Amino acid sequence: MTDIDRIALVTGANKGIGFEIARQLAVAGVRVILGARDAGRARTAVDRLAAQGLATQSVPLDLNDPTSIAAAAAAIDAENGKLDILVNNAGIVDPADGAPSASAPDAVRRILDTNVVGTLAVTQAMLPLLRRSPTGRIVNLSSSLGSLTLNGDPTSPYYAARLIGYNASKAALNMLTVQLAEELRGTPIVVNSVSPGYVKTDLTGHTGYMTAEEGAKLPVHYALLGADGPSGRFVGPDGPTPW
Ligand SMILES: NC(=O)c1ccc[n+]([C@@H]2O[C@H](COP(=O)([O-])OP(=O)(O)OC[C@H]3O[C@@H](n4cnc5c(N)ncnc54)[C@H](OP(=O)(O)O)[C@@H]3O)[C@@H](O)[C@H]2O)c1
Repeated sequence: MTDIDRIALVTGANKGIGFEIARQLAVAGVRVILGARDAGRARTAVDRLAAQGLATQSVPLDLNDPTSIAAAAAAIDAENGKLDILVNNAGIVDPADGAPSASAPDAVRRILDTNVVGTLAVTQAMLPLLRRSPTGRIVNLSSSLGSLTLNGDPTSPYYAARLIGYNASKAALNMLTVQLAEELRGTPIVVNSVSPGYVKTDLTGHTGYMTAEEGAKLPVHYALLGADGPSGRFVGPDGPTPW
Protein backbone atom coordinates (compact mmCIF):
# COMPACT_ATOMS: atom_id res chain seq x y z
CA MET A 1 0.00 0.00 0.00
CA THR A 2 1.36 3.39 -0.95
CA ASP A 3 -0.19 6.48 0.54
CA ILE A 4 1.83 9.59 -0.17
CA ASP A 5 -0.81 11.91 1.25
CA ARG A 6 -0.89 10.56 4.78
CA ILE A 7 1.19 12.08 7.55
CA ALA A 8 2.00 10.19 10.75
CA LEU A 9 3.53 11.19 14.07
CA VAL A 10 5.07 8.36 16.09
CA THR A 11 6.08 9.28 19.63
CA GLY A 12 9.21 7.72 21.11
CA ALA A 13 10.26 6.74 17.60
CA ASN A 14 14.03 6.87 18.03
CA LYS A 15 14.31 3.22 19.09
CA GLY A 16 12.49 0.01 19.87
CA ILE A 17 8.97 -0.63 18.64
CA GLY A 18 8.40 3.05 17.83
CA PHE A 19 11.35 3.12 15.44
CA GLU A 20 10.01 0.02 13.71
CA ILE A 21 6.50 1.49 13.48
CA ALA A 22 8.01 4.58 11.88
CA ARG A 23 10.03 2.44 9.46
CA GLN A 24 7.09 0.26 8.43
CA LEU A 25 4.81 3.28 7.95
CA ALA A 26 7.49 4.92 5.80
CA VAL A 27 7.81 1.71 3.76
CA ALA A 28 4.02 1.88 3.25
CA GLY A 29 4.50 5.33 1.74
CA VAL A 30 3.27 7.40 4.68
CA ARG A 31 5.12 10.63 5.43
CA VAL A 32 6.50 9.92 8.89
CA ILE A 33 7.52 12.35 11.60
CA LEU A 34 9.56 10.76 14.37
CA GLY A 35 8.86 12.25 17.79
CA ALA A 36 11.89 12.02 20.07
CA ARG A 37 12.95 13.82 23.23
CA ASP A 38 16.65 13.83 22.41
CA ALA A 39 17.87 15.63 19.29
CA GLY A 40 20.92 13.41 18.80
CA ARG A 41 18.92 10.18 19.08
CA ALA A 42 16.33 11.63 16.69
CA ARG A 43 19.01 12.45 14.13
CA THR A 44 20.54 8.99 14.38
CA ALA A 45 17.12 7.37 13.80
CA VAL A 46 16.33 9.58 10.79
CA ASP A 47 19.80 8.80 9.39
CA ARG A 48 19.29 5.04 9.87
CA LEU A 49 16.05 5.25 7.92
CA ALA A 50 17.66 7.42 5.23
CA ALA A 51 20.34 4.74 4.82
CA GLN A 52 17.49 2.36 3.94
CA GLY A 53 16.16 4.82 1.35
CA LEU A 54 13.36 6.07 3.63
CA ALA A 55 12.96 9.85 3.91
CA THR A 56 11.53 10.87 7.28
CA GLN A 57 11.62 13.90 9.56
CA SER A 58 11.82 14.31 13.29
CA VAL A 59 10.32 16.70 15.79
CA PRO A 60 11.48 17.31 19.37
CA LEU A 61 8.82 15.80 21.61
CA ASP A 62 9.04 15.06 25.33
CA LEU A 63 5.82 13.78 26.87
CA ASN A 64 6.77 15.40 30.16
CA ASP A 65 7.36 18.84 28.64
CA PRO A 66 4.15 20.70 27.67
CA THR A 67 6.19 23.33 25.82
CA SER A 68 7.74 20.72 23.54
CA ILE A 69 4.31 19.18 22.91
CA ALA A 70 2.80 22.54 21.93
CA ALA A 71 5.83 23.33 19.75
CA ALA A 72 5.59 19.95 17.99
CA ALA A 73 1.90 20.50 17.21
CA ALA A 74 2.65 24.02 15.94
CA ALA A 75 5.49 22.74 13.73
CA ILE A 76 3.36 19.97 12.23
CA ASP A 77 0.52 22.46 11.66
CA ALA A 78 2.82 24.98 10.00
CA GLU A 79 4.35 22.41 7.65
CA ASN A 80 1.42 20.11 6.92
CA GLY A 81 -1.78 21.71 8.24
CA LYS A 82 -3.06 18.30 9.37
CA LEU A 83 -2.14 14.94 10.85
CA ASP A 84 -3.60 11.62 9.71
CA ILE A 85 -2.02 9.15 12.13
CA LEU A 86 -0.92 9.54 15.74
CA VAL A 87 0.87 6.56 17.24
CA ASN A 88 1.15 7.06 21.00
CA ASN A 89 4.12 4.75 21.42
CA ALA A 90 6.43 6.49 23.93
CA GLY A 91 6.32 4.85 27.32
CA ILE A 92 8.43 3.88 30.31
CA VAL A 93 8.86 1.30 33.00
CA ASP A 94 10.69 2.08 36.24
CA PRO A 95 13.03 -0.14 38.24
CA ALA A 96 11.41 1.04 41.50
CA ASP A 97 7.97 -0.14 40.32
CA GLY A 98 6.70 -3.45 41.66
CA ALA A 99 3.88 -5.15 43.53
CA PRO A 100 1.34 -2.90 45.27
CA SER A 101 2.91 -3.64 48.65
CA ALA A 102 6.40 -2.64 47.53
CA SER A 103 6.36 -0.26 44.55
CA ALA A 104 7.84 3.17 45.23
CA PRO A 105 5.05 5.77 45.00
CA ASP A 106 7.42 8.16 43.21
CA ALA A 107 8.03 5.52 40.55
CA VAL A 108 4.29 5.08 40.06
CA ARG A 109 3.94 8.85 39.74
CA ARG A 110 6.72 8.98 37.11
CA ILE A 111 5.16 6.19 35.08
CA LEU A 112 1.65 7.65 35.19
CA ASP A 113 3.02 11.10 34.34
CA THR A 114 4.63 9.82 31.15
CA ASN A 115 2.43 6.93 30.03
CA VAL A 116 -0.93 8.50 30.87
CA VAL A 117 -0.74 12.25 31.43
CA GLY A 118 1.93 12.79 28.77
CA THR A 119 0.09 10.66 26.24
CA LEU A 120 -3.15 12.51 26.98
CA ALA A 121 -1.39 15.87 26.54
CA VAL A 122 0.09 14.83 23.18
CA THR A 123 -3.29 13.52 22.04
CA GLN A 124 -5.05 16.76 23.00
CA ALA A 125 -2.41 18.84 21.20
CA MET A 126 -2.68 16.76 18.02
CA LEU A 127 -6.46 16.42 17.97
CA PRO A 128 -7.13 19.67 16.08
CA LEU A 129 -4.74 18.45 13.36
CA LEU A 130 -6.30 14.96 13.30
CA ARG A 131 -9.73 16.55 12.90
CA ARG A 132 -8.51 17.98 9.58
CA SER A 133 -7.76 14.49 8.25
CA PRO A 134 -10.38 12.57 6.28
CA THR A 135 -9.26 9.39 8.11
CA GLY A 136 -7.73 10.21 11.50
CA ARG A 137 -6.16 7.22 13.26
CA ILE A 138 -4.95 7.10 16.87
CA VAL A 139 -3.08 4.01 18.04
CA ASN A 140 -2.29 3.73 21.75
CA LEU A 141 0.49 1.26 22.55
CA SER A 142 -1.05 -0.71 25.37
CA SER A 143 -0.17 -4.04 26.96
CA SER A 144 -1.92 -7.18 28.15
CA LEU A 145 -0.49 -6.11 31.53
CA GLY A 146 -3.09 -3.32 31.44
CA SER A 147 -5.96 -5.80 31.34
CA LEU A 148 -7.86 -5.77 34.67
CA THR A 149 -9.30 -9.15 33.72
CA LEU A 150 -5.92 -10.84 33.09
CA ASN A 151 -4.39 -9.28 36.25
CA GLY A 152 -7.05 -11.11 38.25
CA ASP A 153 -6.89 -14.41 36.37
CA PRO A 154 -4.49 -16.96 37.95
CA THR A 155 -4.45 -18.94 34.69
CA SER A 156 -3.18 -15.94 32.69
CA PRO A 157 0.52 -15.81 31.77
CA TYR A 158 0.40 -12.13 32.80
CA TYR A 159 -0.98 -12.85 36.29
CA ALA A 160 2.40 -12.90 38.01
CA ALA A 161 3.65 -9.63 36.48
CA ARG A 162 2.74 -7.38 39.41
CA LEU A 163 3.85 -3.89 38.41
CA ILE A 164 1.26 -1.60 39.95
CA GLY A 165 2.60 1.52 38.22
CA TYR A 166 3.12 0.16 34.72
CA ASN A 167 0.03 -2.06 34.67
CA ALA A 168 -2.17 0.75 36.03
CA SER A 169 -0.73 3.11 33.42
CA LYS A 170 -1.81 0.82 30.60
CA ALA A 171 -5.25 0.28 32.19
CA ALA A 172 -5.61 4.08 32.32
CA LEU A 173 -4.40 4.36 28.73
CA ASN A 174 -7.14 1.90 27.80
CA MET A 175 -9.64 4.22 29.49
CA LEU A 176 -8.36 7.02 27.26
CA THR A 177 -8.96 4.76 24.26
CA VAL A 178 -12.53 3.95 25.31
CA GLN A 179 -13.52 7.48 26.27
CA LEU A 180 -11.90 9.17 23.30
CA ALA A 181 -13.33 6.62 20.86
CA GLU A 182 -16.80 7.36 22.25
CA GLU A 183 -16.21 11.13 22.28
CA LEU A 184 -15.16 10.97 18.63
CA ARG A 185 -17.82 8.52 17.46
CA GLY A 186 -19.46 9.88 14.32
CA THR A 187 -16.21 11.57 13.23
CA PRO A 188 -13.66 9.98 10.86
CA ILE A 189 -11.20 9.52 13.75
CA VAL A 190 -10.84 6.05 15.23
CA VAL A 191 -8.93 5.22 18.40
CA ASN A 192 -7.64 1.80 19.44
CA SER A 193 -5.41 0.21 22.09
CA VAL A 194 -2.93 -2.22 20.57
CA SER A 195 -0.61 -4.59 22.43
CA PRO A 196 2.48 -5.32 20.37
CA GLY A 197 3.19 -8.63 22.16
CA TYR A 198 6.24 -9.37 24.31
CA VAL A 199 9.03 -7.67 22.39
CA LYS A 200 12.83 -7.62 22.79
CA THR A 201 13.62 -3.94 23.43
CA ASP A 202 15.42 -1.84 26.03
CA LEU A 203 12.11 -1.62 27.95
CA THR A 204 12.04 -5.39 28.51
CA GLY A 205 15.81 -5.73 28.93
CA HIS A 206 15.72 -7.52 25.57
CA THR A 207 13.70 -10.39 26.95
CA GLY A 208 10.56 -11.31 25.03
CA TYR A 209 9.74 -13.60 22.13
CA MET A 210 9.22 -11.08 19.34
CA THR A 211 11.54 -8.77 17.45
CA ALA A 212 10.69 -5.07 17.26
CA GLU A 213 9.90 -5.65 13.59
CA GLU A 214 7.29 -8.27 14.54
CA GLY A 215 5.96 -6.15 17.41
CA ALA A 216 5.38 -3.16 15.13
CA LYS A 217 3.13 -5.06 12.72
CA LEU A 218 -0.18 -4.83 14.62
CA PRO A 219 0.20 -1.14 15.59
CA VAL A 220 0.98 -0.38 11.95
CA HIS A 221 -2.07 -2.34 10.82
CA TYR A 222 -4.25 -0.23 13.13
CA ALA A 223 -2.53 2.98 12.00
CA LEU A 224 -3.49 2.14 8.41
CA LEU A 225 -7.06 0.97 9.12
CA GLY A 226 -9.50 1.54 6.29
CA ALA A 227 -12.62 3.69 6.44
CA ASP A 228 -14.72 0.96 8.07
CA GLY A 229 -12.10 0.15 10.70
CA PRO A 230 -13.23 -0.44 14.29
CA SER A 231 -12.80 2.09 17.09
CA GLY A 232 -12.51 1.61 20.84
CA ARG A 233 -10.94 -1.86 20.63
CA PHE A 234 -8.21 -3.48 22.74
CA VAL A 235 -6.29 -6.00 20.64
CA GLY A 236 -3.07 -7.97 20.74
CA PRO A 237 -1.28 -10.45 18.50
CA ASP A 238 -3.72 -13.21 19.62
CA GLY A 239 -6.82 -11.12 18.88
CA PRO A 240 -9.14 -9.14 21.17
CA THR A 241 -7.77 -8.66 24.71
CA PRO A 242 -10.20 -8.46 27.66
CA TRP A 243 -10.28 -5.01 29.29
N1 LIG B 1 8.47 -4.23 24.61
C1 LIG B 1 7.35 -4.85 24.95
O1 LIG B 1 7.29 -6.08 25.14
C2 LIG B 1 6.06 -4.06 25.11
C3 LIG B 1 4.89 -4.78 25.41
C4 LIG B 1 3.69 -4.09 25.55
C5 LIG B 1 3.68 -2.72 25.36
N2 LIG B 1 4.84 -2.04 25.06
C6 LIG B 1 4.75 -0.59 24.88
O2 LIG B 1 5.29 -0.24 23.63
C7 LIG B 1 5.83 1.08 23.69
C8 LIG B 1 7.26 1.08 23.17
O3 LIG B 1 8.02 0.26 24.02
P1 LIG B 1 9.47 -0.30 23.65
O4 LIG B 1 9.51 -1.68 24.16
O5 LIG B 1 9.80 -0.03 22.22
O6 LIG B 1 10.36 0.61 24.63
P2 LIG B 1 11.78 1.32 24.43
O7 LIG B 1 12.65 0.59 23.49
O8 LIG B 1 12.26 1.59 25.83
O9 LIG B 1 11.39 2.71 23.73
C9 LIG B 1 10.62 3.65 24.42
C10 LIG B 1 10.60 4.95 23.62
O10 LIG B 1 9.82 5.90 24.37
C11 LIG B 1 10.60 7.08 24.49
N3 LIG B 1 10.24 7.85 25.68
C12 LIG B 1 10.26 7.49 26.97
N4 LIG B 1 9.87 8.51 27.74
C13 LIG B 1 9.60 9.55 26.92
C14 LIG B 1 9.16 10.88 27.11
N5 LIG B 1 8.97 11.40 28.34
N6 LIG B 1 8.98 11.66 26.03
C15 LIG B 1 9.20 11.18 24.79
N7 LIG B 1 9.64 9.93 24.53
C16 LIG B 1 9.83 9.13 25.60
C17 LIG B 1 12.04 6.59 24.56
O11 LIG B 1 12.93 7.67 24.29
P3 LIG B 1 14.46 7.67 24.84
O12 LIG B 1 15.26 6.82 23.91
O13 LIG B 1 14.82 9.11 24.78
O14 LIG B 1 14.42 7.10 26.23
C18 LIG B 1 12.00 5.56 23.44
O15 LIG B 1 12.07 6.18 22.20
C19 LIG B 1 5.71 1.52 25.15
O16 LIG B 1 4.54 2.30 25.32
C20 LIG B 1 5.56 0.20 25.89
O17 LIG B 1 4.87 0.35 27.12
C21 LIG B 1 6.02 -2.69 24.94
